[in-house]
Amino acid sequence: MYVCLCNGVTDKKVKEVIQEGATTMRELYKETNLGSQCGKCCQCAKKILNDELINI
Ligand code: FES
Repeated sequence: MYVCLCNGVTDKKVKEVIQEGATTMRELYKETNLGSQCGKCCQCAKKILNDELINI
């Protein structure tokens, strides 16, 4: 599923970046470029980040 349509970032990519060590939204933005245009994906990305961090 696409999290960020503007930049073509999928939930799989977001999870990969988190597995590789990202723990903040800032790191996700930096690694994937998500949220750099309309910003509608930020809430969804934050939810994935929180869910993944709980499971690490
Ligand atoms: Fe991510 Fe627009 S959907 S910046």
